[in-house]
Amino acid sequence: MQAYRASIFHLEDDPAITDGEAHAFHEDGLLLVEDGRILACGAWDKLHDEIGAAPVEDLRGKLIVPGFVDTHIHFPQVDVIAAHGEQLLDWLERHTFPAEAAFADQGHAEETAEFFVEELLRNGTTSALVFGSVHKASVEALFASALRRDMRVIAGKSLMDRNAPPGLTDTVESSRADMESLIADWHGKGRLGYAVTPRFAISCSDAQLEMAGQVLAEHPTVWMQTHLSENLREIADTARLFPEARDYLDVYARFGLVGKRSVFAHCVHLGADAFDRLAQAGSAIAFCPTSNLFLGSGLFPLETACRHGVKVGMGTDVGAGTTFSILHTLGEAYKVGQMRGEALDPFQAFYLATLGGARALGLEGEIGSLERGKIADFLVLDLAATPLLARRLPQARSLEDRLFALTILGDDRVVERTYVAGMERYRRG
Ligand code: GUN
Ligand code: ZN
Repeated sequence: MQAYRASIFHLEDDPAITDGEAHAFHEDGLLLVEDGRILACGAWDKLHDEIGAAPVEDLRGKLIVPGFVDTHIHFPQVDVIAAHGEQLLDWLERHTFPAEAAFADQGHAEETAEFFVEELLRNGTTSALVFGSVHKASVEALFASALRRDMRVIAGKSLMDRNAPPGLTDTVESSRADMESLIADWHGKGRLGYAVTPRFAISCSDAQLEMAGQVLAEHPTVWMQTHLSENLREIADTARLFPEARDYLDVYARFGLVGKRSVFAHCVHLGADAFDRLAQAGSAIAFCPTSNLFLGSGLFPLETACRHGVKVGMGTDVGAGTTFSILHTLGEAYKVGQMRGEALDPFQAFYLATLGGARALGLEGEIGSLERGKIADFLVLDLAATPLLARRLPQARSLEDRLFALTILGDDRVVERTYVAGMERYRRG
């Protein structure tokens, strides 16, 4: 058993639904961890009798929060970050497809996988839903790196049998075989999971989407991830390619890809009816503000999605996204809200980054908060990590104000330590 004494903050429910009672905050708190799980979390006063002979780490002045959940990120796009000047379809052609083609090389995939998972941990992300390249070996490299650190990584190889350069396409037969083998070898190993990953409707034939739906039906514990309604040209091209579908979401629904374990990235330009259908299906949306701003895709209607009852998590969407930091991503989410006349509440923001993300992945029984029995994925945050934070946060008028300033001013520099399943996997410096 290990004990940590610090301020502790986490969300126990969605603050949009349970007004005022969704979060727990202990200025002087205690977190007890045993065998990689949370044994207790609460006020030091109330709990310290339970410590027994366990060693106590005194982290007073720091803030413990749950590890962040990134519901949408691309592993083979680490080197695409900060590519100037294009919107989605041109950006894919010019920058992204060439970078992903390099993942045919196993050595490159392995080296990048190590960098990628270390960068996640350095930014406080302990769970992620990840796109691989089209190459099976790229996903294996990622799984191997995540497994060594016991991280909650769900990933899949991109399905793309058309509208991509030669060398970066698969076929219905090859992609089915690759998926079957990846599921058999990796799904459920440690904390890893497999996600059937049709890149987006434009890059998949009807036959490939149909096959993806079949694989999903045959493996009910596997996830599904794809892109939906991100960019206006993409939406117009999709409508031309699938004239029989009533809208973009229907392209996926017709092939059995819209279910409880499905996560759709972006959903920037979605009709009210599509939000309803996502909610009814129990599907989730990954909100990717830095990407949507960077590619000029648009402003995600977060309040609309929530009002319709759709589950939402945060996504960095690296490399169209410009940061690995979920904290920084929350700051950008706030600015997107401002452009829409919707000021994102700081408690809601932290919910989306933790328990909301966990619910989006159907993992709320395992991660997302510091409730007793959950896996001990947590962060130690340094609230004085920069001179500006050290000056601004002590002046905060409330917990809410403190958390808000943390999302606007904070990023990877704030993350002092990252624990995965009770083990320290990153320490700053
Ligand atoms: N749509 C299809 N592929 C991609 C991708 O790699 N990034 C983003 N942002 N959107 C996509
Ligand atoms: Zn994406």
